[in-house]
Amino acid sequence: MAVKLNCKHLEGFLSADELKAIQPEIDKSVETINARNGAGSDFLGWIDLPIDYDKEEFTRIQTAAEKIRKTCDVFIVIGIGGSYLGARAAIEFIKSPLYNNLKKNTPDIYFAGNTISGNALDELLSICEGKDICVNVISKSGTTTEPAIAFRIFRELLEKKYGEDGAKERIFATTDKSKGSLKSLSVEKGYETFVVPDDVGGRYSVLTAVGLLPIAVAGCDINKLMQGAADARTAFKGRSDTDCAKYAAIRNCLYRKGKAIEILACYHSFFSMTAEWWKQLYGESEGKDGKGIFPASVIFSTDLHSMGQMIQEGVRNVFETVVDIKQTGAKATVPGDSADLDGLNFLAGSELNAVNHKALEATVLAHCDGGVPNIILEVDSKSEYDFGYMVYFFEMACAVSGYTLGVNPFNQPGVENYKNNMYALLGKPGDQYQARRAELLKRLGK
Ligand code: PA5
Repeated sequence: MAVKLNCKHLEGFLSADELKAIQPEIDKSVETINARNGAGSDFLGWIDLPIDYDKEEFTRIQTAAEKIRKTCDVFIVIGIGGSYLGARAAIEFIKSPLYNNLKKNTPDIYFAGNTISGNALDELLSICEGKDICVNVISKSGTTTEPAIAFRIFRELLEKKYGEDGAKERIFATTDKSKGSLKSLSVEKGYETFVVPDDVGGRYSVLTAVGLLPIAVAGCDINKLMQGAADARTAFKGRSDTDCAKYAAIRNCLYRKGKAIEILACYHSFFSMTAEWWKQLYGESEGKDGKGIFPASVIFSTDLHSMGQMIQEGVRNVFETVVDIKQTGAKATVPGDSADLDGLNFLAGSELNAVNHKALEATVLAHCDGGVPNIILEVDSKSEYDFGYMVYFFEMACAVSGYTLGVNPFNQPGVENYKNNMYALLGKPGDQYQARRAELLKRLGK
C-alpha cells in the first residue's frame, strides 16, 4: 500500500460508532460510482484511465517528450486549473520545486496561461530570450481566456523566431479530440495534438496527456506513474472498506460536527503544488449548493511560523490531513559545532528529515491538544509510482466524499460567474454581455 491511513489521532474527536453510522452512506456512494448512475456520471472516465487509455497516444507522448527534450532549452506549458496543476504537482513532487535549477539533461519547464498577470508574462518572455523553446498548449474547451491569451503571445514569438513551419514542429496542443477553437487551429496549422477525453474533467485529467506530456518531458517515468494509479484502482475501485473510502467517511463525519475547513499539511516544500492540485480537486468538486469542506493547505514547519497560531488556537472549525512521506532520499545532516552557541549540538549528526519528522509528531500532538482532529496519510515515497497511487487515492476519495456530501462532484457551474462578468466588462460582443455590462458598470460606480 503506497498510501495508508492512520487514524490514531482522531481519538476523542470521532468514535467508531460515528464512523459505523455513516458507512451505509459511503457504501451507497461507492455503489453509485460503480453503477455510473449518479449526478455527473458522464465524467467518470478517470476511474479506469490507469488501465484503459490510448496506448498509441501514450507512445506518441513519450516520442514527443523525447523530441521536446532534444530540441529546446525551455518548455512552456500553457494551461490553467486542471490543465496545469497536475503536471506541475508531479514535476515538483517527483523531481523538485527547484527543478529548473537542477543540473539536468531535460529542458527548464515554465507554466504560463494560469494568470492574466502581465508581469508574469513579461518575465517569462525575458527568460526565453536567446533560448530554444517548445510549447504545450493545454485546454480542453480550447476557449479559456487565460491560456488563449498566453498562447497568442507564444505562438507569435515562435512563428517570428522559427517561421510558421518551424513553429509547428515546436507547438504541441492537448485539447478535445474533435471540437473547439484550439483543435481547429491545430488542424489548420499542423500541430501535433493530444486528447483530453470527453469523459474526464479538467481536475481529474492528470493521468491523461494533459499531465503526462509535461511530466514525461521532465524526465519522469510515466509508465511507473500509471502503474501506481493502476494498483490504486485495483485496491479502491468498487470497494467501501478501504482507506480511501474511510478518508471520505472521516471527512464527512468531521464536517457534520462543524469542522468545515480541511487543512492539508505536509512537511516538504516539494508537496506544495500537489496541495494546490488537491485544493482544486476538492474545492471544485465539493463547493456547491451551499455545501463543502473548504480545502486549505500548509507546508510545515514553514507555516507553523505564520499559520500555526491560528490552527492551534483559532476558531475550532478545522481539521488537518497530514501527509507523511516516508522515504524521501534526503541526505542532509546537522553538523556539529565546537562552540555550540545555538545549543544544537544535541542534534549533531541527525538527518534533517529525522528532525523534520519529530516536528511532525510534535505538531500533530499539539494540534490535537488544541482541538484539531488530525488524519495522517502515510505515503511511501516521492516516486512516480507513489505519486500515481496517491493521485488515484485522492480522486476516488473525492468522488465518494462528494456523493456522500450530496453534491455532483464532477461539475463546476460556479466558475462561469466571474467569466461572464469579466467578458461583459471587457466589452465582449454579444447581447448577453452588453446588457450585463451596463448593470455591472453601475454597480462599480462607473
Ligand atoms: O477542472 C476544471 O474543469 C477546470 O479547472 C479546467 O481545467 C480549467 O478551467 C481549464 O479549462 P480548459 O482546459 O477548458 O481550458
